[in-house]
Parts: sequence; C-alpha cells; structure tokens
Amino acid sequence: MKRRPLIAGNWKMHLTIGEAESLARAIARGGIPADRDAMLAPPYTAMAAVNKALQGSSMLLASQNNGWEEKGAFTGEISPVMLKDVGCSMAIIGHSERRHIFGESDQLINKRLSGALKYGLVPILCIGETLEEREANQTFKVLETQLRGGLTGVASSEADKLVIAYEPVWAIGTGKTASEDQVQEVHAFLRTLLKKMYEKDIASQIRILYGGSVKPDNVDVLMSREDVDGALVGGAALQAESFIRIIHFNQ
Ligand code: PGA
Repeated sequence: MKRRPLIAGNWKMHLTIGEAESLARAIARGGIPADRDAMLAPPYTAMAAVNKALQGSSMLLASQNNGWEEKGAFTGEISPVMLKDVGCSMAIIGHSERRHIFGESDQLINKRLSGALKYGLVPILCIGETLEEREANQTFKVLETQLRGGLTGVASSEADKLVIAYEPVWAIGTGKTASEDQVQEVHAFLRTLLKKMYEKDIASQIRILYGGSVKPDNVDVLMSREDVDGALVGGAALQAESFIRIIHFNQ
C-alpha cells in the first residue's frame, strides 16, 4: 500500500506576521513535487497572512492546536471552525510541548482530536516517549496508551483521515535524531496496533510521520524506510533553504 508522503513544518512560537509571510513565500517558491503533500503550521497571529502568501501553492495550512467546540466561553482557545475559516485543513494535536509544558492529558487531547474530526480538520496526533521511559523499556507501553487514549471513540469510518506523528521527546529540538532502525521499529509497532484498532485496509492508509531533529542530511534515509510516511519538522522548517530541501527528499 503506497501512502502519499507528508512533510509538515511546525513553526511553534516563532515569527511575527511579516517574518512568517516572507518565509512562507520563500518556501512556496521552492515548489512541491506532485507526488507528496507539504504543510506549514504558523502561529495563530500569522495564519491569515501566511494563507494569503500561499495562494497558488499546494502547501497546506495547519494549526498547532485546536479547541473542540464551534464557539463559546473558552478563553484562550481557537475553534476548529475559526481555523477552517482562516484556511487550515489540518491540525497538530498532542504535541509533546503541549503534553509536557502545558500538562495536556490523553483525555484532553482526545477532545481536541474529536473536535478536529467533527469540523473537518485532518488531525495529526503526536505521540512519543521520554528518555526515561525509553531507558526503562516503557516505549511501546507509553505509545500504546497515548495512541489508544488520543483515538478513543474514533470510528473506522473516520480513521482513514488520521495522521500519526511519532516524536520521541528526547529527539525534539535536541539535535539527536532517532536512528532509522529505531524509527522503523516504532512505526511498524504503531501500524500493527492501528490494524488491531481499525479495519486492516484503513489502518494501512494511515500516514505515520517521524519528528525529532529531522534535517536535510537525515531526511532521505528516514524517508526510505517502509513505514515512515513523512516528517514533522520544527527547527529546520524555520529556514527556507533547509525546509525546501526536506520537502524535496530523495530527489
Ligand atoms: P525539531 O522539532 O525538528 O526542532 O526537533 C520537531 C517537533 O517538535 O515537531
């Protein structure tokens, strides 16, 4: 089963409106090969400007988080309807920084994911173990809890829209990439788990991205592994040249 690769850039809490607009333009100028998807997740304040800058490009727009209700008294939250209104078609959910800095639980993440699906955003569910958990041989257990917790209540009929991102916490922003063998081992484990949770042909369509210090010099080897369907890129997405190179992996 061939899955369409997705290269996703997460700008986190970086860039003013003007900076984001010119970076988006520069990245879009690099082009996107027709056989893959590419996506940018700017900070909320820059979304409208980035959406405009991306007109005429196939670059997709995503949020870094989302609320689950259409509207209401939810100070500080952004509704999925508002995100669609500003041009988003995807949503990063459960990023390790949300889990570890802001204390988001699997239960909260599941609400966000259900809200994204309900209002038509494609969720990218991020999961990943800490270094302590890996060293204590808890990796698979932690990932299974996060995957099942995040996907509670998601029916097979909706599962084909899901994207999963495996992001080991110890590899994010540290310059330490997981080896391609470590990544493939985890992705194969996740694929098997998804096949237990959903019908096999649906589970085999779900894209599993790797994230954690993906750079121009390691993307090709990561993307050559069977169950690696894309990359979620932080630091290297903040420069046009490196992100363009990552989008053009294996070319
Ligand atoms: P990084 O971040 O590429 O800077 O390690 C990845 C992420 O947090 O998604």
